[in-house]
Amino acid sequence: MTTFGLPAECGRLVEYDDYLADLPELDREGLLADAFVIGGGSNLLFASDVSARTFLHPVQSRVEERKTNAGIEVTATAGVCLDDLCSRLASRNLWGTENLSGIPGHIGGAAVQNVGAYGAEFKDVVVSLECYSPAIHDFVTLRKEECRYGYRDSIFKHLPPGERLIVCSATLHLSEEPIFNLRYQGLVGALGSRLGLPENLRDKEEAVRKALLDNGALSPLLFRETVTAMRDSKLPDPAHAGSAGSFFKNPVIGPDEFDRITERWREIAGDPQARVAMHPLHPEPCPRTEQRFKLSAAWLIDKAGCKGMTSGGAALWPQQPLVLVNASGTATAADVVTLERAVIARVRDVFGITLSPEVIHI
Ligand code: EPU
Repeated sequence: MTTFGLPAECGRLVEYDDYLADLPELDREGLLADAFVIGGGSNLLFASDVSARTFLHPVQSRVEERKTNAGIEVTATAGVCLDDLCSRLASRNLWGTENLSGIPGHIGGAAVQNVGAYGAEFKDVVVSLECYSPAIHDFVTLRKEECRYGYRDSIFKHLPPGERLIVCSATLHLSEEPIFNLRYQGLVGALGSRLGLPENLRDKEEAVRKALLDNGALSPLLFRETVTAMRDSKLPDPAHAGSAGSFFKNPVIGPDEFDRITERWREIAGDPQARVAMHPLHPEPCPRTEQRFKLSAAWLIDKAGCKGMTSGGAALWPQQPLVLVNASGTATAADVVTLERAVIARVRDVFGITLSPEVIHI
């Protein structure tokens, strides 16, 4: 039930279909107390013995659409596959989820993890979430602002055990008007090539925007296909090598640490002009005390010389070393954890920065 494809056995697995009827009943039976909800299993590593634990698995896959004054609202139950939803909405010519195409997992997990790729995050389209609270034995609705979304973060990751919430459905806002997202430079480049634009335009984003609007090719499906092709070229196909996508988060640091890492990299590279791969999170100009930089964990792992590292059946994916894969198909969680620790240690030795995992360890 996980995309890593590592062996693990739980005590009890409860699949439920109609959450409105089933969750209150499971609650009355005392089955929700310390159960763990597993959705698409695309961000989980079973690193401990779970043979005494209960797991819940929502299987209901229902999508409802309605028109509002501001556009279209779509409500999808937790068991809906995120990429199926992205495909359906792009085919319906609705804008908002096209850049999230190809992300493995289901709606429940996407809402908890605030999944993101290619300049977009799940939170960008969320209106509200319907959840079940075992603490009050009732359903509650959280508005987007109440979910406290951050980079791969939400309130759901910080609730004390007694106040946990189970995500039942998410309501998303989509647009019939073309509101497209060109924040990710790699996507701008890929769209530019598809549209036949010359490689070295000065303001590529503006040129791509204009070409999209001018040549009649603009559609969410075009974005979906471009994103999917980019993912396929970098990320392992879960059918061939199990993984949980990016294993580590991209570290966010302040200016002093950024200067220190730049100095360290220039020393290693033997080049006083060498640059560290990063994305500024602050607008320019910005007072130094408020500057924040998102470093590329893939770059740090690569430059620390981790490429090619393995542990038992686990390895780093060659095209994207941020992804740890079950390369042999027979890796164990212990192999993955050993490799994880080795990567963290090497990046810390070389750059003095400690990577933290994005993948949830159970
Ligand atoms: N890079 C290297 N060496 C390599 C490969 C990549 O140095 O061998 C560096 C390059 O500098 C490249 C940079 O890594 O420019 C960034 O790579 P990429 O554009 O693939 O993005 P990322 O920051 O590594 C994030 C998300 C991915 C998401 C991509 C695309 C995180 C932890 N990961 O990766 O999300 O698909 O952006 O938007 O934020 C996931 O969360 O599971 C996931 C796959």
